[in-house]
Amino acid sequence: MSSQEIPEEKHLPSEQGDAHHGAVAVADDPFADPGLPVHRPRIQDIDERAAKRSERTVALLFTLSMLATVAFIASFVILPVDKIVYIFPIGKVSALNFALGVSLGAALFCIGAGAVHWARTLMSDVEVAAERHEIAAPAEVKAQVLQDFADGARESAIGRRPLIRNTMFGALALLPLSAVVILRDLGPLPEDKLRKTIWAKGKMLINQNTMEPLRPEDIVVGSLTFAMPEGLEEDAHDFQTQIAKAALMIVRIQPENIKDKKELEWSHDGIVAYSKICTHVGCPISLYEQQSHHVLCPCHQSTFDLSDGARVIFGPAGHALPQLRIGVNDEGFLEALGDFEEPVGPSFWERG
Ligand code: FES
Repeated sequence: MSSQEIPEEKHLPSEQGDAHHGAVAVADDPFADPGLPVHRPRIQDIDERAAKRSERTVALLFTLSMLATVAFIASFVILPVDKIVYIFPIGKVSALNFALGVSLGAALFCIGAGAVHWARTLMSDVEVAAERHEIAAPAEVKAQVLQDFADGARESAIGRRPLIRNTMFGALALLPLSAVVILRDLGPLPEDKLRKTIWAKGKMLINQNTMEPLRPEDIVVGSLTFAMPEGLEEDAHDFQTQIAKAALMIVRIQPENIKDKKELEWSHDGIVAYSKICTHVGCPISLYEQQSHHVLCPCHQSTFDLSDGARVIFGPAGHALPQLRIGVNDEGFLEALGDFEEPVGPSFWERG
């Protein structure tokens, strides 16, 4: 359609647009500024009862947000960490996680829904056009901005509607408490948990494949055996926490091939037990070269010499693997003669 075919009234800016914009449409210009559409008042603009209904709806949403935040905090304090509940159709979930997620989601949603409903029904919806200007605003523009801000505050009716203002402030003030209370999850301090494992004098070495106590004759030269402490059950709730520190690898080396004197003293008939946790960033070590007695961490290729105190011979690890002192009990089973004498795994202790 050519510009000549367009009815003239479609090109004319509205009265509203003229008032704010000053745009003058030219009937034969297809790119003329059409101006702003005529403002149509909403039901809330002309009916105070409808405005009151909207006000109550917004206040209700902000109040629900406050209640949801209180429910979040109460859930965090009351619900036990290990309580499992069945929620249809999700299935079995942690009651604490479910309650925290639902309550925090409801608190955020209600604040958002309240703000949107407030803006759509009660705040001024008169469109205005702002001319572009240089980035550095002159003083009179800054004054205009402040004036606009004051106008905006007046048009939002925040001063005239204390119920909305107070409930909104209440909801916004309470919401950050959700973040504050979960800081409690940063504690308690680990104390000496990172320095100690559950190995102790007299605990037998259990083969992690067969779950049977190990005898010296089970360990042959050239084999690599993984072991864990007696009494650690795989279905225990803290199994992963404990095995992450206590996992052990056992090899047998001809005693005359053991170069490190302390290693020889802490071994039994050439059987040596070392932490399986790499001292770089804690991967489980799993590759053993029986000729050289080297073990290799698959993560970043740190290599340790098990015939020489498990010292690092290659890679980013900064420390030798900790050795566990072992012996044999009266029944002929391999047992620990104490805990590791240094923390296992990554070298966090160097920093603190
Ligand atoms: S974790 Fe073992 S080399 Fe990085």
